[in-house]
Amino acid sequence: MVILVTGGAGYIGSHTCLELLRAGHQVIVVDNLCNSSREAVNRVEKLAGKSIIFYQADVTDEAALAAIFAQHTNIDGIIHFAGLKAVGESVVKPQQYYYNNIVGTLVLSKMMAQFGIKNIVFSSSATVYGENEIPFVETMSLGVPTNPYGQTKLMSEQILKDMAVAHQEWSVVLLRYFNPVGAHESGQIGEAPQGIPNNLMPFISQVAAGRLEKLNIFGNDYPTPDGTCIRDYIHVCDLAEGHVRALEKLADKSGVHVYNLGTGQGTSVMQLLTAFERVNQLHVPYTIAPRRAGDIAAFYADASKAERELGWRAVRDIEAMCRDTWRWQTMNSHGYDQ
Ligand code: NAD
Ligand code: UD1
Repeated sequence: MVILVTGGAGYIGSHTCLELLRAGHQVIVVDNLCNSSREAVNRVEKLAGKSIIFYQADVTDEAALAAIFAQHTNIDGIIHFAGLKAVGESVVKPQQYYYNNIVGTLVLSKMMAQFGIKNIVFSSSATVYGENEIPFVETMSLGVPTNPYGQTKLMSEQILKDMAVAHQEWSVVLLRYFNPVGAHESGQIGEAPQGIPNNLMPFISQVAAGRLEKLNIFGNDYPTPDGTCIRDYIHVCDLAEGHVRALEKLADKSGVHVYNLGTGQGTSVMQLLTAFERVNQLHVPYTIAPRRAGDIAAFYADASKAERELGWRAVRDIEAMCRDTWRWQTMNSHGYDQ
């Protein structure tokens, strides 16, 4: 298949492009590089031994997108990763988040209708469940996101669901990711956050590298066995494989298809930290800090639907996630900007 990947230079996008190429698909990337580097795409090409067609363009730019779709009349489907994703920043810059993430989804929907493209896979998030019973199951009623970022995921899901009603031949796949971590085992591609990381694994990794002084554990008085929050960490390569599987299974199967992509296993902040230290044989200083606003004590996926229907399940464990994160960190101490 010929797949247009928005946000394909980013963290999850780059790993997915590699999996797509390996599975024999052709890849066209559209990315404005607002949170990524062209070098990620170069490295994916090297790893796969195949080339990618790359456009530096903004998915909210309708004219630029129309020109790309007019140029490539053989596109079979879209994977839509492009978006802004920092929860805290979305509270401070809501206009930017709603504009970028919602208009991007709207423009792509318009292109699909205009150019007769029937397949789209969308990067959603477990954040759409809000505070809910665990494990989170696809059939649950969705929660109320507490921040603009989460709202953009809920709204984009709704836009695509409505588009699928209006265009009954479309296949809309909504993939709800849990907590993606890790990097490709080659150490060539990984997560390269700009500035101080917001998420736990890149923060641990930068403390271990001596770039940050210590980890702040946000709360140890949650109602969990060790008092720290529990999440469902999933290796980014498992996540990437999940996209390829979803695309191959569901292309041209009309309707809306929703899947959790997680492991189904909960790991606490303290467990992740000690696993990282043990696997990589190093010490990560930490301190207990106050709870972070908006955090939920514990959530993890019911990942059985993806296994049942797609034949996909996450196979890489916490040790692999910690090892691959650290390999990427040590081989690329400043991300792609060496
Ligand atoms: P990322 O920031 O590494 O990748 C996003 C990519 O989109 C970047 O390359 C960025 O330059 C590009 N982009 C952003 N706005 C754009 C625009 N208007 N036009 C063109 N390109 C644009 O983030 P990621 O972690 O790879 O996340 C990918 C997707 O998955 C996002 O939609 C994110 O919200 C979603 N998601 C991520 C996580 C996570 O923990 N990383 C969890 C759940 C959902
Ligand atoms: C966060 C977002 C979520 C988004 C996800 C993936 C919030 C409230 N939620 O999820 O919407 O989909 O990222 O991008 O931001 N932690 C520390 N110290 C740190 C960083 C994190 O103790 O320096 C703790 C957090 O309190 C949390 C856990 O580690 O309990 C995981 O945090 P994080 O990696 O930010 O992911 P989520 O909060 O699950």
